[in-house]
Amino acid sequence: MAKPSKDEIHYLLLKLHSLTGIVPIGAFLVVHLCVNSLRTVGVWPYQLSIDAINNLPFLLVIEITFIYIPLLFHSVMGFYVIHHAKTNVHRYRYPRNGLYTLQRLSGAVVFVFLIYHLGTTVAPKLWEGKHYFEAAPFLIDILNGEFQTWQGLLVYTIGIVSATFHFSNGLWGFCVSWGILIGENAQRNGAIVFAAIGLALTVLGMATVAEFNMNPIPVEATVAR
Ligand code: HEM
Repeated sequence: MAKPSKDEIHYLLLKLHSLTGIVPIGAFLVVHLCVNSLRTVGVWPYQLSIDAINNLPFLLVIEITFIYIPLLFHSVMGFYVIHHAKTNVHRYRYPRNGLYTLQRLSGAVVFVFLIYHLGTTVAPKLWEGKHYFEAAPFLIDILNGEFQTWQGLLVYTIGIVSATFHFSNGLWGFCVSWGILIGENAQRNGAIVFAAIGLALTVLGMATVAEFNMNPIPVEATVAR
């Protein structure tokens, strides 16, 4: 088999960047915001969801494989695309510049937000050794505190809006560049559908934030049987 050329590798990496934005990262974002929104139903269902995740066998392996490695690859390639934006506007066939600029900007904002978000949730959880049923009270305590400050509310609002925009606009770009939305009509209708998905996810995320802010209820660790 012939060795792939530099251009072919470059093209393949860009395609993989585009694909990882949808699966697994986009899929994770949708599930993550849905699971977190259980908090609006009550603190008990929310605690159960954290318990379920934190009692998964091989949790760290699953997280590294399906979240952190794809996230790192997508971020590194994203910054590469930002630095080579001119050629890529062409390559991705994005329409006009406004949304494409916002796509790059929101990606960078989400990257910074994630450093804060993981630095205040997952990192202290691992550092303090809060595993299994001890994770939920620990994490809920942190979130209760974060959402009582205007700084916390601002950071999460910016993070949620940036992430949902980046995902829904990226979904449109993905469908156009992979030849799923062909023709002006399809692309216009697709834009409406994806904007609605983005809006719904934003409402879900912000409802969660509002619930944490209005009802910061602490919980005891679930008793394992
Ligand atoms: C309502 C807003 C949000 C809340 C309440 C929330 C809550 C949490 C919690 C509690 C964890 C730790 C889970 C655990 O270790 O068991 C977590 C992890 C994480 N969050 Fe969020 N999050 C929110 C929004 C977001 C957004 C907008 C993004 C994407 C930009 C995001 C990305 C992540 C990632 C990548 C992880 C690490 C996943 C893992 O290691 O399992 N989160 N979040």
